[in-house]
Amino acid sequence: MRHLLSIADLTQEQIEKILDRAESFAEVSLREIKKVPALRGRTVVNLFYEASTRTSSSFELAAKRLSADIINLRSSGSSVEKGESLKDTVQTLTAYGPAAIVVRAPYADAARLVTKWTDAAVVNAGDGKREHPTQALLDLFTLRRRVDSLAGLNVWIVGDILHSRVARSLIQALNLVGAKVTIAGPPTLVPRGVDSALNCQVRYSLEDVGEADVIYTLRIQKERMDSGLIPSMGEYIREFQINAQRLKSDQLLMHPGPVNRGVELSGEVIDGEQSLIADQVESGVVTRMAVLYELLAERDVSTAKQESKQPLKLGASE
Ligand code: NCD
Repeated sequence: MRHLLSIADLTQEQIEKILDRAESFAEVSLREIKKVPALRGRTVVNLFYEASTRTSSSFELAAKRLSADIINLRSSGSSVEKGESLKDTVQTLTAYGPAAIVVRAPYADAARLVTKWTDAAVVNAGDGKREHPTQALLDLFTLRRRVDSLAGLNVWIVGDILHSRVARSLIQALNLVGAKVTIAGPPTLVPRGVDSALNCQVRYSLEDVGEADVIYTLRIQKERMDSGLIPSMGEYIREFQINAQRLKSDQLLMHPGPVNRGVELSGEVIDGEQSLIADQVESGVVTRMAVLYELLAERDVSTAKQESKQPLKLGASE
């Protein structure tokens, strides 16, 4: 594994290896001194061009717990609008010889572009509406700890699928481990053709949500939404909110955060017993430790240096 850009880069075996490694790091997290020396002397750069709480803080903590040095850089989306500045930033940072660059940007394929400008391993921490592979891995890790088997598990992903990089990565990851995926939302928030492109069922109502073992809800992404995609928030809440009436007592509930409280989820289910939302946050650190470890721990630094760099134009944005 050279980079982690998409779930499509992984096999089922690689996913299981990462989840097993995360499990061993969960044991480290129970120790009083929650650190291992695996990445001592290596530098990890966290490059975030979009808002983030969980993803950036958990990558930071993951790198620190592996004893790496970490540089955190944040910038508003507007400064990468021309593309050149992302390239300049990456080339500047490359002078510090980072072993890994974790990148979040509002453009599809931003992480893949970064691989052209650096010798570092690149981790996609969210590229526009495209993918968010480490979120999918931490979700699998969270689920695997709670259910007997991921194979055959019936997972409904509910809400704003159209704007969701989380959904795009998660559907692929669930398919790889043999779960059955249904996506549900208003027709305007479900991308056309997604069922055949990503192998999942599509529903435009929650009528049959009772059949799900797991309900994975998504945030209504107002910042990415053109107006008019949903008639009104009130109607969305009436038709698609997961609340105590809709959630059956044997169903598990997930959400990647941040939650619009009272929109996609009612307050009582967020804090209820069936909610895995806090577990997902906790899983973020150990899963990202596992990803950084897989990418870096066994990588020979000297060979990485010899790989060539190619100049490149920035592709289309989303
Ligand atoms: C998601 C993201 O940023 O893609 N959140 C996260 O990484 N925890 C989902 C979202 O913003 O709704």
